[in-house]
Amino acid sequence: MPTTVIKDAVRTLRLYNVITGPMKKFYIETFGCQMNAHDSEKVVGTLMSRGYEQVEEPGDADLVLYNTCSIRDKAEQKVFSRLQEFKRHSKGRVFGVLGCVAQQEGEKIFERAPHVSLVCGSASYNRLPELLVQIESGQKRVTGLSLDTEDTFETPLTRRDNPHRAYITIIEGCDKSCAYCVVPFTRGPERSRTGTSILEEAGELARMGYTEIQLLGQNVNSYRDPTPGGPDFARLIRQMGEVPGLKRVRFTTSHPRDFVKEIVDAIDENPVLCNHVHLPVQSGSTSVLKAMQRLYTRDDYMRRIEWMKRSPRSIAITTDIIVGFPGETESDFEQTLDLIDQVEYDSVFSFKYSRRPNTPALALDDQISEEEKTRRIMILQERQRGIQMRRNAGYIGTIEEVMVEGFNKATAQWIGRTSQNKTLNFNHAAGGIGAGQYLPVRVLRAGPNSLVGEGVN
Ligand code: SAH
Ligand code: SF4
Ligand code: F3S
Repeated sequence: MPTTVIKDAVRTLRLYNVITGPMKKFYIETFGCQMNAHDSEKVVGTLMSRGYEQVEEPGDADLVLYNTCSIRDKAEQKVFSRLQEFKRHSKGRVFGVLGCVAQQEGEKIFERAPHVSLVCGSASYNRLPELLVQIESGQKRVTGLSLDTEDTFETPLTRRDNPHRAYITIIEGCDKSCAYCVVPFTRGPERSRTGTSILEEAGELARMGYTEIQLLGQNVNSYRDPTPGGPDFARLIRQMGEVPGLKRVRFTTSHPRDFVKEIVDAIDENPVLCNHVHLPVQSGSTSVLKAMQRLYTRDDYMRRIEWMKRSPRSIAITTDIIVGFPGETESDFEQTLDLIDQVEYDSVFSFKYSRRPNTPALALDDQISEEEKTRRIMILQERQRGIQMRRNAGYIGTIEEVMVEGFNKATAQWIGRTSQNKTLNFNHAAGGIGAGQYLPVRVLRAGPNSLVGEGVN
């Protein structure tokens, strides 16, 4: 965001506080996925427009907020240990729990952490201003927990953390019901924004100087404009690719069932659309996919991979995999290993299956032991490491365009990101370089997780 815009906004807010009294301070900590990160940016905007000032330390704040994740048990436990750590500093402070643990646990949070006053799930963020009024008037326990919503959460003022790359949530919630997953319970049903409002926001962001936009959704490609005749996802990304000023448009996460060939065609035809697709497979075994209620077979998934492999733009493909889903046999697991060999992913996020409240998989017999899950995930990660080494080595000698993200003092190198979403650290002889610039960089070395190169003059 240009500094003049920030200064104007801050000046307006200060003025507002001359009337309403001393500025209240808030601290927010965010766990979980990019949707949560972006929700927090919108919550920050909402609070700032009510005259709150953001601080970096919870100890300096009047209002402490945790925007939480409950995708795996560990993530949920982290939230409660954070709340516990701050219990002794609770005097005179208001604590709020937002996000997926808030929605999942609801009022039970007040029992477990009595110093909490606000519990609000993401489907109720539109009610935050009203809930804040109740808190400000001294109410001790306030909740926003309805999932009965057709709204999406949009705010007039969003405080974005990165001055060059902006997130836009285009679809909220999830209508699938994968047997292991809490998201349908924590984020409610699918709601898409109108294409017009998305394109307007993108245009506005481009005019403010953002050059990269990342479209977000739990299943981003299930997007469907709610107005009759409005764009589907493939058409929306084509339109996004035409917004003047944008150099890169990304999107995540794509669900294989709704991943149509037109998405690959759109990427093929417009270099503004980044050549990277995150397409979580979860398992390489059709019978496990069926038990997971994933709505596609291994063959369906591989067909989508083939579309991308045939693209002239060399699309980087990344995925998520769960090991140790109930009933996963050694042979099922070997099919997952075989699938990663076939696809040759650029990166894999792998997780040990975690039992989650309310989910259908809770009732399944044949749970896999923790030791066995650990064994499988280690084999998977080792195998994938070799694949990434080989794939990344293939970039040595090529010239890639990066967006500069910053400078790493420890290595004295610039940090760049390619369209394929690979980190490319580089030295540059010329001066005058800064974050947000786009530069050509020659790749000299490759590791499993990043590339190293030098700027091309
Ligand atoms: N909507 C996306 C996934 C979002 S959740 C999709 O359907 O592809 C992000 C990832 O967390 C999932 O892809 C899955 O790999 C992992 N995950 C979700 N629930 C999990 C659980 N109960 N145990 C372990 N991993 C889980
Ligand atoms: Fe969870 Fe499945 Fe929905 Fe993804 S599609 S958010 S894994 S229920
Ligand atoms: Fe976590 Fe909720 Fe995102 S469970 S991964 S924060 S949708």
